[in-house]
Amino acid sequence: MNIKDLKTLKQSGEKITCLTAYDASFAKLFDECNIDIILVGDSLGNVIKGDKNTLSVSMNDMIYHTQATAKITKKALIIADMPYQSYANAEKTLANAKRLINAGAQMVKFEGGREFEVCFKILQHHNIPVCGHLGLQPQSVLKMGGYKVQGRDQHSAERILADAKALENWGVQTIVIECIPAKLGKQISQSLAIPTIGIGAGVDCDGQVLVSYDMLGITQNPPKFVKNFLTNGNIQSATKDFIQAVKDNTFPADKHSY
Ligand code: KIV
Repeated sequence: MNIKDLKTLKQSGEKITCLTAYDASFAKLFDECNIDIILVGDSLGNVIKGDKNTLSVSMNDMIYHTQATAKITKKALIIADMPYQSYANAEKTLANAKRLINAGAQMVKFEGGREFEVCFKILQHHNIPVCGHLGLQPQSVLKMGGYKVQGRDQHSAERILADAKALENWGVQTIVIECIPAKLGKQISQSLAIPTIGIGAGVDCDGQVLVSYDMLGITQNPPKFVKNFLTNGNIQSATKDFIQAVKDNTFPADKHSY
């Protein structure tokens, strides 16, 4: 998988599959099941470190888990999250993105829209591939007052769409859109030439991502957009079922969407 392949998948109408992994064992298993993208997500704050949000995740955490994941992965594209405060200005963004690339990521992801213009542009200038993250942004949980569906009213829906178009213009390669109405997920996906990867954003996104611990039913009281694919106790089958369900558009169903 490389960056060009992502756009080709969108153009051909084939859905993109993505799961989070934070270590070599899961990365190897997902890679062998032919997942398209492995996201070393800062959700590791919740599922690995046991914290109640992602704000405690450091660059050192991300480097450690990116190295462990990337080392073993042969086929999937590796995207690594830039943690809270690691892209506070252009210089920090460039320095920290380089550290993640050196740790084995092929692309970095960070949360936010047009307010991060200088950060997107400096990475584009230095040829570092970037994945955006719009809609629900877990690193802004304190400001948002909780994990809430975004883009429900016309004003915020227009803002998210305008952010997505700006990111595309600034050379971003793909955008994760989290927890927005399915109708808006479809509108954004149809408005962009770059692929969108949805999580709680409806079936019409160009791809789907889940936190692997959610997909395997480990997380207690998961959000509505999660489906537990571990039906027969076999992690490989669960992964293959997730990939198949995304590829044939049966996941997410209406009951997983807003
Ligand atoms: O950190 C993460 O796992 C993510 C996904 C929720 C998309 O950003």
